Amino acid sequence: MPRVTFIAHDGGRRDVEADEGRSLMEAAVGNGVSGILADCGGACACATCHVYVPAEWRARLPPRGEEEESALEFAIDVRDDSRLACQIVVTAALDGLSVGLPRSQF
Ligand code: FES
Repeated sequence: MPRVTFIAHDGGRRDVEADEGRSLMEAAVGNGVSGILADCGGACACATCHVYVPAEWRARLPPRGEEEESALEFAIDVRDDSRLACQIVVTAALDGLSVGLPRSQF
């Protein structure tokens, strides 16, 4: 099972086991990770699952979709490395992934 790490704005780290085929958001919520609110339940409508994905991992992900781009317009502190965790499907290739969590979600 892929292991992923969520890094809070204050540097606090949470390592979780993530089910392949489910979203990164579901891995966070299922493990009680602070900073991933997921108010819309993964419908790509709330942007409260906003994460920062380092460049070395972004290349392994499909690019942002149109809906994701639209939802990110409502997020705070959006950057080039911003993604919505509900739109990232966990695969074996993501084992070892670390993502940052925006301060605004705490
Ligand atoms: S959970 Fe709402 S946009 Fe991801």
